[in-house]
Amino acid sequence: MGFKLFLQESLKGISQEELGKLPSGYQRIGDIVVLHIPKEIRGVEKEIGALVRERLGVKSVFRKGVVSGELRKPSLKRIAGRVNTTIHQENGCRFKIDVTKVMFSRGNSFERGRVIAGDGETVLDMFAGIGYFSIPLAKKTPSCNVVAVEKNPVAVKFLRENLRLNKLENVEVFQGDCRDVEGVKADRILMGYFPGTDAFLPAAFSFLRRQGVIHFHNLYRRGELWRGPLGTLETQALANGYRLERVLAKRIVKPYSPCKVHAVVDVRVKKT
Ligand SMILES: C[S@@+](CC[C@H](N)C(=O)[O-])C[C@H]1O[C@@H](n2cnc3c(N)ncnc32)[C@H](O)[C@@H]1O
Repeated sequence: MGFKLFLQESLKGISQEELGKLPSGYQRIGDIVVLHIPKEIRGVEKEIGALVRERLGVKSVFRKGVVSGELRKPSLKRIAGRVNTTIHQENGCRFKIDVTKVMFSRGNSFERGRVIAGDGETVLDMFAGIGYFSIPLAKKTPSCNVVAVEKNPVAVKFLRENLRLNKLENVEVFQGDCRDVEGVKADRILMGYFPGTDAFLPAAFSFLRRQGVIHFHNLYRRGELWRGPLGTLETQALANGYRLERVLAKRIVKPYSPCKVHAVVDVRVKKT
């Protein structure tokens, strides 16, 4: 039985209109489930939470909110269960997370597992969070050294814990603003952040060796692909003494809003 049908058949005494608003799917993060619950059915959200918790055998169920601000803080409301913290397994890695304090996007799962480093590379993860990219990358390429930078101290706490959970010793953590990092010269730079990622490109180029790879994420309207990100990268490369040598990959990570998508472009750049 489908998820929505299960809810429709299990919830008693709700109107036809409310039945139509029930969620047709869910996001699972470890043993926590996150649901989109429109305001029209918030009156029965506790019942929905209890049903979903039992059916999926999870510890807690949350109502999805918005992710906002510079530190991409989530606003989730727990509607069933007691726990906020879980361990999520993905791409052969373990991520411990408090879903009320740090964001976790299931939609980025493929992207987190896609990126790979070359042997012996120094990788700078400018927006490391709880280790979304640093951990799978450091695990896949044990010979690389990752410098993981994160501004939010709560995310840094989970990042350090996740490095221990994944038994990784090739990741160095820097807590603070990525623009303030000193003494790092990298072969590969991860810019897993949006919106406004362009503003961090001058810093990214200042951390690059003579040549290297940038993984550049941002939000775009579909009509701006791929002219928008490639134009920005080309202009910023030239302004910072580099040129675009090759576009290695370009992909839509996920739809973000009715008119925008989260896109990533990987480029190889070289000093002019
Ligand atoms: C949440 S991650 C983006 C999600 C991730 N790409 C994924 O795969 O799910 C972005 C991180 O950048 C951090 N951040 C924002 N501005 C920053 C800055 N100037 N320097 C370092 N970290 C920053 C935020 O605190 C946040 O943890």
